[in-house]
Amino acid sequence: MPLFNVYPLYDVTPVSGKGIHVYDEKGAEYLDLYGGHAVISIGHAHPNYVKAVTNQVETLGFYSNAIQNPLQEQLADKIEDLSGCRGYQLFLCNSGAEANENALKLASFKTGKSRVLAFKNGFHGRTSAAVAVTDNKNIIAPINAQQKVTILELNDILGVKAELEKGDVCAVIVEFIQGVGGLDQGTADFFEQVFALCKTNNTMFIADEVQSGYGRSGKFFAFQHYNVTPDIISIAKGMGNGFPVGGVLIHPDIEAKYGMLGTTFGGNHLACAAGLAVLHTIEEEQLMDNVNAMSDYFMAIAKTIPQIKTIKGRGLMLGLEFDFEVGELRKKLIYNHHIFTGGAANKNLLRILPPLNIEKQHIDQFFEALKKALV
Ligand SMILES: Cc1ncc(COP(=O)(O)O)c(C=O)c1O
Repeated sequence: MPLFNVYPLYDVTPVSGKGIHVYDEKGAEYLDLYGGHAVISIGHAHPNYVKAVTNQVETLGFYSNAIQNPLQEQLADKIEDLSGCRGYQLFLCNSGAEANENALKLASFKTGKSRVLAFKNGFHGRTSAAVAVTDNKNIIAPINAQQKVTILELNDILGVKAELEKGDVCAVIVEFIQGVGGLDQGTADFFEQVFALCKTNNTMFIADEVQSGYGRSGKFFAFQHYNVTPDIISIAKGMGNGFPVGGVLIHPDIEAKYGMLGTTFGGNHLACAAGLAVLHTIEEEQLMDNVNAMSDYFMAIAKTIPQIKTIKGRGLMLGLEFDFEVGELRKKLIYNHHIFTGGAANKNLLRILPPLNIEKQHIDQFFEALKKALV
């Protein structure tokens, strides 16, 4: 049976990984500055992670959400501890799209309204409501297009105000650093005014932290660079270091009812063990400090390369913008220099999303290769 052919693939077959590297079937080493799309947070095959997941699968890999699972409470407490988001409630699911799907559903339940405001170039996933609020017509099927969504330009505060004052908007969904779109960010003033307008218009403010969360921006959540308190925060990617897990942090003002949300796999024992290993490692190895130090180091070198026109993003969620399309450059980096990087909707942008424990030597290796690839 052929695979459903939806992914254009590079001709590389990683079969193992360790730290910042992956290895192909012939043993060739590749530097992973893409982190499997911002997923690998604590590095490939981190010993804490391997031990926790192995122990858990040997003990109890899965049981449904019909029984007590103290691992879910431990995970919730650890997220609260590291993020400083006090009093929020945690609902666990399996992916970023599912996290946003549940976030949007909760906003609609809470407010009794159904229209959503989202932003140009935003990406929130491929399921029903999540794809409807994503700004990419090519991935919105007619069945998704019937949702009520208004897409505005980032920083269009007058537009946001006018739409919210119509009274039918259940949620504004925001990426504080756009991922797939190409690392653009709204201004602090914009985010803070949107938050204030949500408060006065009975609209839920949703922070999509699926990619920017878990320390990648240099703070636990990217919204923490601003003076806002989201009603709902969606998380996934770095949360499981490759184990599929997602979640929603829900403000204490939103009350749970039995049956309101649910999932078979979400919050299973293995997912929680993976999630706990990630958080313990972020804490023990002070990975957020490393993100800030390595981000400064990376940016300082990037500024010396004349072909780089703009450096976008924060922390280790970075984009290098050129005045040409980077498709060929990415191929050269992979095939000639064995370095994985990412692309974006902005075709001139090279995305850098490495594991959070990257070191200076890896950044040096990248820039040496980049200089050669640019000749
Ligand atoms: C900001 C953001 N939200 C949601 C998603 C969807 O996550 P998933 O692919 O796990 O469904 C992504 C994935 O790239 C993302 O970057």
